[in-house]
Amino acid sequence: MKCRKRGRSRSKQRIMKQRIEELLGRVEGFSSRAAGEIEDFRIRMLGKKGEVTALLEEFRTVAPELKRELGQRLNELKTRAMERVNELKAGAESSGMESAATGDMTRPGEGTAQPVASRHPISLTRNEIVGIFERLGFTVADGPEIEDDRHVFGALNFPPEHPARDMQDTFFVERHPDVLLRTHTSSIQVRVMETTQPPIRVVCPGRVFRNEAISYRAHCIFHQVEGLYIDEGVSFADMKQTLLHFAREMFGAETKIRLRPSYFPFTEPSAEMDVSCNLCGGKGCPVCKGTGWLEIMGCGMVDPNVLNACGIDADKYTGFAFGMGVERIAMLKYGVGDLRLYFENDVRFLNQFSAAI
Ligand code: PHE
Repeated sequence: MKCRKRGRSRSKQRIMKQRIEELLGRVEGFSSRAAGEIEDFRIRMLGKKGEVTALLEEFRTVAPELKRELGQRLNELKTRAMERVNELKAGAESSGMESAATGDMTRPGEGTAQPVASRHPISLTRNEIVGIFERLGFTVADGPEIEDDRHVFGALNFPPEHPARDMQDTFFVERHPDVLLRTHTSSIQVRVMETTQPPIRVVCPGRVFRNEAISYRAHCIFHQVEGLYIDEGVSFADMKQTLLHFAREMFGAETKIRLRPSYFPFTEPSAEMDVSCNLCGGKGCPVCKGTGWLEIMGCGMVDPNVLNACGIDADKYTGFAFGMGVERIAMLKYGVGDLRLYFENDVRFLNQFSAAI
């Protein structure tokens, strides 16, 4: 009985020995640089249900007198399997490090670089206009696009029957005759005057809305920058000099200005300002329609009625105001022939401005 048992144990030992040698061969023969494959191999060999682990389990049932020789070889297998996995893992990791370390670390990622966007020409022009006045000490004021009658018309000395209030020009909110989309950013100036005592020096950039048919020279949405300067003793000459400075900064040092009498309900006297055509140098060309002059803004001395309506003492203070369309200035500055291009967002048009900041 005893003898038979030992015999069985010996044959089991022989089979195990063969298994160990076979596994050792597989361990030495295995090679990979892929971290995932190496980990799979480790699990197949040394994991809970791995082949080496199974042999170690089986080893516990081997007769004690046969354990010595088999145990040594089994330990060797386990150690070699662990070493091999670690060697290969180190190789896989370091190969990744090497390629990163040998490249130029400051190089932009290939294929992932995003194209640099550009500012819209209207933003560029608005920023430039605002910047010129900021350098003269003006600050920027903001206000709502949806307004009431008082801020757009009433406080600005528009008589009740004035045609600018007509339904054809102004977008009113249905069933709310007092609520409308501002037709000019003078409404911001009213808000500033209502809340601030002079000296006041502000520019008011913003979007405005007029019920007009869309064409190459008109749109129902456009942008304005308006300005207001109120203090003791502000004169028409101050306005002229300020606007001449603006024109030269915007269109070049050689630029001349011309003021033509005009009419606005909120200024008296009022004027339209022209600049000398920067394309033909004043000689006359198709853009200036042969006149040598381009109209760019309305301006004038703030009507005392407006100052009084906003709580500013018209006996003590005087001021000037001006307002211009950003689209018009951008057209002249960049030679854009059709206003609708500003609203279409065609990247072929917009990309042309990517060099500007
Ligand atoms: N608010 C006028 C407009 O929208 C422009 C303007 C502003 C004219 C200030 C004179 C003074 O047309």
